[in-house]
Amino acid sequence: MSVLRLGIFVSGRGSNLQAIIDAIEAGTLEAEIAVVISNKPGVPALGRAERHGLTSVFLDPKSVAGTPDPRQAYDRKLLEQLQHHRVQLVVLAGYMKIVTSVLIDAYESRIMNIHPSLLPSFPGLRAQQQALDHGAKVAGCTVHFVTEGMDTGPIILQRAVPVEEGDTEDILSERILKEEHGLLPRAIRLFAEGRLKVEGRAVHIRDA
Ligand code: GRF
Repeated sequence: MSVLRLGIFVSGRGSNLQAIIDAIEAGTLEAEIAVVISNKPGVPALGRAERHGLTSVFLDPKSVAGTPDPRQAYDRKLLEQLQHHRVQLVVLAGYMKIVTSVLIDAYESRIMNIHPSLLPSFPGLRAQQQALDHGAKVAGCTVHFVTEGMDTGPIILQRAVPVEEGDTEDILSERILKEEHGLLPRAIRLFAEGRLKVEGRAVHIRDA
């Protein structure tokens, strides 16, 4: 049986990319990173890809500026890359750009995102600060399939962490991030094992 081919989209630090790389190298995740794609040049995530000998691409959003629908045009370029590298599952690992129907239709239930809140609470930017602002006592992270709409797709896995008195955005983000690094490779593994079934809004896990 051939190994699941991943396309990882990044925009920055790339610690979740690193967690996937580490899981593959440790043999706890049977998958192959076919390509890492960034919408930002020179970010640490691209350096991590390079250090591990992975194929990586910076796709410049400016290259489609001035076209009638630049977001869709950009996603068509991404799609070309995914098809070229025969990607079977797309993972948004700190990818700070909204994906359009171009990708969502082509990769239905085959795009995953990691978000630092217990969705459906606190979608969007600075989710950890949103949790603090609401005085939430429990925070966490979610891996979900991507649909149109921000951070709203079917939930695959979640993990909770406590919010402690005196937490700052940085402290809470760090506590959540540690859990993200376990959760994302686990969700990919479930996908690779063919154990995820999407039914409406929900994802059922076979033999959970
Ligand atoms: C993570 O907190 C992730 O949940 C969010 O963006 C951050 C990316 O961090 N979507 P990194 O680039 O993986 O280190």
